[in-house]
Amino acid sequence: MAEPDSNQERKLDPEKQPKQDNPAPETPADLDPETRETVQEFMAEAAEQNEAANEAVSAGDGADRGATGGKAGNGDGKPGPYISFEHIYKSFSGGDVLKDVSFFILPGETLCILGRSGVGKSVSLQMLMGFYKPDKGQIMVAGEDICGYTEKQMQEVRRKVTMVFQNGALFDSISVGENVAFPLRERHDLAEDQIQQVVRGLLEMVGVAGMEDLLPSDLSTGMKRSVAIARALASQPEAVLYDEPTTMVDPLMGHLLGNLIARLKTQLHLTSIVVTHDMRFARKLADRVVFLHQGEARFFGTMDEMDQSDDPVLKEFLDLDALVLPA
Ligand SMILES: Nc1ncnc2c1ncn2[C@@H]1O[C@H](COP(=O)(O)OP(=O)(O)OP(=O)(O)O)[C@@H](O)[C@H]1O
Ligand SMILES: [Mg+2]
Repeated sequence: MAEPDSNQERKLDPEKQPKQDNPAPETPADLDPETRETVQEFMAEAAEQNEAANEAVSAGDGADRGATGGKAGNGDGKPGPYISFEHIYKSFSGGDVLKDVSFFILPGETLCILGRSGVGKSVSLQMLMGFYKPDKGQIMVAGEDICGYTEKQMQEVRRKVTMVFQNGALFDSISVGENVAFPLRERHDLAEDQIQQVVRGLLEMVGVAGMEDLLPSDLSTGMKRSVAIARALASQPEAVLYDEPTTMVDPLMGHLLGNLIARLKTQLHLTSIVVTHDMRFARKLADRVVFLHQGEARFFGTMDEMDQSDDPVLKEFLDLDALVLPA
C-alpha cells in the first residue's frame, strides 16, 4: 500500500467548524481532542460533499424516473433521483429474477427493499455495483446510465456508491485498522497520523473502539459489519447500499447498527438503500419502500402509502413479518 505523499499532504482545516444545520456525526467524548477534531472535520467534509452532490443531482436534467416518478430535474420543481432502476430485467439459468422492475431514490433519501428470500434483493444491489449487468433496462446513478460501463468506469462509480456486505467482505489478511485505512491511503493526501486518527474515530463511531489491531477473523458478524460500515465511511461515499445490516446479529447489535445507519443518513446526507426483513427498522429509516414479489416491483411508494395499500400480497407479507418479529 502506498504511503501518503507528504508533499501533497492535505491540511484538514482546524478552523473549519461544522455548519449549524450540518453537524458532524457525534463522536464519543473519550477520544483525545485532536483525534476527535480530525474525525469531525473528516465527517463534516463528507457531509458537505454529499450536500453539494445531492444538489447537483437534484438540479440535473435528462434523468427520467421511469414508470414510477416522472421526469426529474426538468423544471417541475421535483428533484431528480440519485439512483433509479428503469424497467430492469434479469434472469439466470434458473429462471427470471427481475421482470420490468422500476424504482428510484432521491438524493439523501433511504429506500428499503423488501421481499421474501430469493426475489432478487441482493441481485439488485449487485447490479448497482456493476457485479451483474441487467439483461434489459437502465440503471441510473447520479444521472448516468451505468449499464454499459466498463469495469474501469464502474470503479469510479464505486467511489461514489459503496456496499456494506452481510459478512463485511473485509480483507482477511490485514488488520481491522488497515481495512478502514485502505480508502484513506488511496487518497494519497492524508498524513499517517491523520489516517490513524480518522481510523480510530470511525471505529469508535461505529461501536468497535480499540479493535484496530485485531484481524477480521477475531470479530463477530456484527462487529465485522460495523467495521465494514467504518471502511465504507472512510471512502466518503455519496451513497451506501446495505444488505440485511441488522440480521444474524443479536438484538442489541441490530439496534446499534440500525441507529448508526439512521444517524448517518441525516448527518451525512447519505443516499441509502437498505435490504431488510426488519419492518421496525424499515419504518424508522425508509422514505420509500419497494416490495419485490415474483420478479416484479409489486409495490413502490412511501411508508404511508404502503400502510394504506390494500394489496393482499403486500398485506400478507407485512402480517407475516409482524408475526416473526419479537415484540
Ligand atoms: N450468480 C447466480 N447464478 C444463478 N442464479 C443466481 C445467481 N445469483 C443469484 N441467483 C438467483 O437469483 C435469485 C435472487 O437471488 P438474491 O440473492 O437476489 O435473493 P434475495 O432476495 O437477496 O434473497 P435473500 O433474502 O435470501 O437474501 C435467486 O433465485 C438466486 O438463486
Ligand atoms: Mg439477499
